[in-house]
Amino acid sequence: MLNPCFLSYLLFFLVFFVPQISFSCPQDQLQFLLEFKNLLAQNSTATITLEGLETWRPNSDCCKWQLVKCNAPSPTREVIDLNLHSLVLSGSVSSSILRPLLRITSLVTLDVSSNFIQGEIPGDGFVNLTRFTSLDMSDNSFNGSIPPELFSLKTLQRLDLSRNLITGTLSGDIKELKNLQELFLSENLIVGEIPTEIGSLAELRVLILRQNMFSGSIPLSVSKLMKLETFDLQNNSLSFEIPDGIGKLVNLSTLSLSRNKLSGGIPSSVQNLTNLETLELENNNELSGEIPTWLFGLQKLKILRLGGNKLQWNKNGYVFARSKLTHLSLRSCGLEGNIPDWLKKQTALLFLDLSMNRLQGSFPKWLADLKIGTIILSDNKLSGSLPPSLFQSLSLSVLALSRNNFSGQIPHTVGETSVMILLLSENNFSGPVPESISKIHRLLLLDLSKNRLSGEFPRFDPESLLALLDISSNEFSGDVPASFGSSTIMLSMSQNNFSGEFPQDFTNLPYLMHLDLHDNKISGFVPSFISQLSSSLEVLSLRNNSLKGSIPEGISNLTSLKVLDLSGNNLDGSLPSSLGNLTGMVESLVSSSSPLPFVFSFTIEIHDLAVNWKNSKQGLANRNLYLYTLLDLSKNKLLGEIPSSLGNLKILKLLNLSYNDISGLIPQSFGDLEKLEILDLSHNNLSGEIPQTFSKLSELNVLELSNNKLTGRIPESPQLDRLNDPNIYAYNNKLCGMQIQVPCSTPTEQPKEKEEDEEEAMFSWKAAAIGCPCGFVMAVAVMYLVGYFSDSSPPRRSPKNRGFKK
Ligand SMILES: *[C@@H]1O[C@H](CO)[C@@H](O)[C@H](O)[C@H]1NC(C)=O
Ligand SMILES: *[C@@H]1O[C@H](CO)[C@@H](O)[C@H](O)[C@H]1NC(C)=O
Ligand SMILES: *[C@@H]1O[C@H](CO)[C@@H](O)[C@H](O)[C@H]1NC(C)=O
Ligand SMILES: *[C@@H]1O[C@H](CO)[C@@H](O)[C@H](O)[C@H]1NC(C)=O
Ligand SMILES: *[C@@H]1O[C@H](CO)[C@@H](O)[C@H](O)[C@H]1NC(C)=O
Ligand SMILES: *[C@@H]1O[C@H](CO)[C@@H](O)[C@H](O)[C@H]1NC(C)=O
Ligand SMILES: *[C@@H]1O[C@H](CO)[C@@H](O)[C@H](O)[C@H]1NC(C)=O
Ligand SMILES: *[C@@H]1O[C@H](CO)[C@@H](O)[C@H](O)[C@H]1NC(C)=O
Ligand SMILES: *[C@@H]1O[C@H](CO)[C@@H](O)[C@H](O)[C@H]1NC(C)=O
Ligand SMILES: *[C@@H]1O[C@H](CO)[C@@H](O)[C@H](O)[C@H]1NC(C)=O
Ligand SMILES: *[C@@H]1O[C@H](CO)[C@@H](O)[C@H](O)[C@H]1NC(C)=O
Ligand SMILES: *[C@@H]1O[C@H](CO)[C@@H](O)[C@H](O)[C@H]1NC(C)=O
Repeated sequence: MLNPCFLSYLLFFLVFFVPQISFSCPQDQLQFLLEFKNLLAQNSTATITLEGLETWRPNSDCCKWQLVKCNAPSPTREVIDLNLHSLVLSGSVSSSILRPLLRITSLVTLDVSSNFIQGEIPGDGFVNLTRFTSLDMSDNSFNGSIPPELFSLKTLQRLDLSRNLITGTLSGDIKELKNLQELFLSENLIVGEIPTEIGSLAELRVLILRQNMFSGSIPLSVSKLMKLETFDLQNNSLSFEIPDGIGKLVNLSTLSLSRNKLSGGIPSSVQNLTNLETLELENNNELSGEIPTWLFGLQKLKILRLGGNKLQWNKNGYVFARSKLTHLSLRSCGLEGNIPDWLKKQTALLFLDLSMNRLQGSFPKWLADLKIGTIILSDNKLSGSLPPSLFQSLSLSVLALSRNNFSGQIPHTVGETSVMILLLSENNFSGPVPESISKIHRLLLLDLSKNRLSGEFPRFDPESLLALLDISSNEFSGDVPASFGSSTIMLSMSQNNFSGEFPQDFTNLPYLMHLDLHDNKISGFVPSFISQLSSSLEVLSLRNNSLKGSIPEGISNLTSLKVLDLSGNNLDGSLPSSLGNLTGMVESLVSSSSPLPFVFSFTIEIHDLAVNWKNSKQGLANRNLYLYTLLDLSKNKLLGEIPSSLGNLKILKLLNLSYNDISGLIPQSFGDLEKLEILDLSHNNLSGEIPQTFSKLSELNVLELSNNKLTGRIPESPQLDRLNDPNIYAYNNKLCGMQIQVPCSTPTEQPKEKEEDEEEAMFSWKAAAIGCPCGFVMAVAVMYLVGYFSDSSPPRRSPKNRGFKK
């Protein structure tokens, strides 16, 4: 029999104790979480995803919610992990939304990365988190400095504040700094050092402060972080030497200090880092001294990036490599002689960058056989022909050999690879391009420019992925190749011997932005189907061909056109007034201004494109690169009058109608071409007065009006008064004005001496081209960022495939 007393005791127990051995989360923590959700959802300046958050409902057990993890009930169940990565998709939220979360004192890990959070880290919120081990706030817009409260989290093992706007503090060591200027960035932002208190986080294993705004030296106190395994300070503005004490961190496996302003050499204490797997010191510019050969004795080393410094390869040093590297960058490290053959044993290599050295000799067959994914050997003095086996590797993704002295034919095996980026420009390759090149199914970018390649260029399938092609400055002949895949963005085929008519197949390329065919032998009429080219077309150059007929009215269909160069043909007929409807020259399109950041990220990663993607080095200084607009119809046989609609082209920077047979008056509307910097109307039949509206052309710095029948007073303005070279106005009827020192009352003879058309070099296609390439490189850059070639930047955790946000 049960004792009734026992029963009531049991009942009492059930009623009063069971709820305390709770299997659901504490009410207060549930409330804090809901408060966070509400703050997020209420904020109209941000778009958030409810993915995961939809399970966060009152009257339910928060331990069962998604993104939330609780501990085992001992004795009470509590929230320990919050994974709140990428909840905000755009806009911005204030860092104060984190406050309710920080009141969950049982918290062990918190991930709020990629959430567009703005403002300072709410440091005081962390004081009660006594069990806290991991904080991930990366990829937000946190600003201010690291709050001191974080340094009292003695249990912290992982701190990731990468990709924010966090600045250092003006620490007590400030007096020791040699150069106070280092503390101030040009934008007047006060920046400073990584606080020396970081050394008190004795449990820290992972410290990632990559891509913030820290400057000054790396604090010596980091040598106290004995448990550190990952130390990543990439892409800040840190300077001075790498502290020797770094060699004490024996468990360090990743040391990443690339893209700072560090100087001095590689500390010898790094030898003691026997667990080191990744050493990245790239792009510090000022790191110097010899590259120690003991680096290659570090058995676990896999990734070594030293390029972009003043580090020098030790010519006499013997490398006995014990490491099995996967990534090696020795870009601009003063390497001489043959490609070093200790690399032979580096059979795990995926990425090799030896560009910008003084390497000679041929491309070794053993290197071809290593099955490396990315090989960058551009800007060396390598010669000879390429081993056919190079292309028999399915691993090869990027091959950059530009600016060497390679010769011979492109091996017929080229079609057997699955290379995505193939850059062979500025070598001495000759002969035909193997037909099979068009069968490389992943090929996105092909640069064969400036070689001596000849014959016909192969046809690509409509399914081809090829986006950017440059075969300019070769000896190709035959019909203009126009059979490409529909993903084509850029075709640069200038300076060859292509002939025949302008092919209609170009109208099948819906994404074409850039078509350059200058200096070829294209003949026939300018086809009317030119109006059916891609509406994305920004650049069209048919300069110096043999086209005839008139410019079709439909040309105004090409609404994105910013550069139209038809000069040096046999065009006749009059200028269509529809030219004034080329909206790409009327207002700047937003789309063409955005890509720049992408270009930079690309140029850093694959240097070969950066420096060389065409003629971008010289030209007209201080121009807004991607806003360049140009209309060049010079050296044809154009007749009739200038349509006044040309005055609509408000963002035009260069207008060249010289060497035609254009008559009539210069339109008054030319005064509206406010951005015009270069205007050439010379060698025509223009008559009448120069419109007084010219005085509005305040940016004009090159003017050519010679060899016309102009009369009357040259308009005056501060800008025009400076254009007082008599040649500008030579060979006209009765021009007068202070610029040519001819008083308007008494007409005198014009100055005779005149410079021939070599001024024209200024308008050459090269100068004009500076504006255009960015957009195209951008396209590759986008693909690059999407991860096609991802190799050096760590892949973003992207759990839900949401793609880009910023
Ligand atoms: C939303 O976020 C913005 C920017 O951080 C902040 O200024 C605003 O106060 C927030 N609004 C609400 C309702 O929380
Ligand atoms: C941080 O950003 C917020 C919001 O953008 C701004 O109000 C605040 O002044 C910034 N703080 C610092 C220290 O720059
Ligand atoms: C930390 O705990 C103390 C004592 O329980 C409390 O007074 C304080 O408000 C807490 N601070 C925060 C930020 O939660
Ligand atoms: C370096 O940081 C800047 C911002 O601080 C960013 O714009 C740039 O993309 C970063 N570069 C790399 C290669 O991470
Ligand atoms: C280094 O790591 C090993 C293995 O994880 C560990 O046993 C050792 O204590 C660590 N060393 C230090 C100095 O923390
Ligand atoms: C490497 O470590 C040993 C033992 O800890 C120490 O004696 C030596 O000085 C260190 N070497 C360097 C170059 O720091
Ligand atoms: C390039 O190589 C050829 C032999 O293939 C040689 O004649 C020529 O001098 C080399 N040119 C340069 C610039 O090294
Ligand atoms: C290209 O190769 C030919 C021999 O094939 C050589 O005569 C010529 O000098 C080379 N051109 C350059 C620029 O090295
Ligand atoms: C260019 O092509 C034409 C025929 O299309 C040919 O007669 C001529 O020799 C070629 N010129 C050069 C320099 O290859
Ligand atoms: C026109 O192109 C030919 C090659 O087709 C070239 O030889 C010539 O120099 C070019 N003329 C001008 C003015 O650029
Ligand atoms: C202009 O382009 C549209 C499609 O983009 C096309 O339908 C139309 O025929 C074109 N106009 C001319 C005159 O070619
Ligand atoms: C230019 O465009 C306007 C408006 O779209 C149109 O009315 C006009 O006829 C066009 N002019 C020419 C010459 O095509």
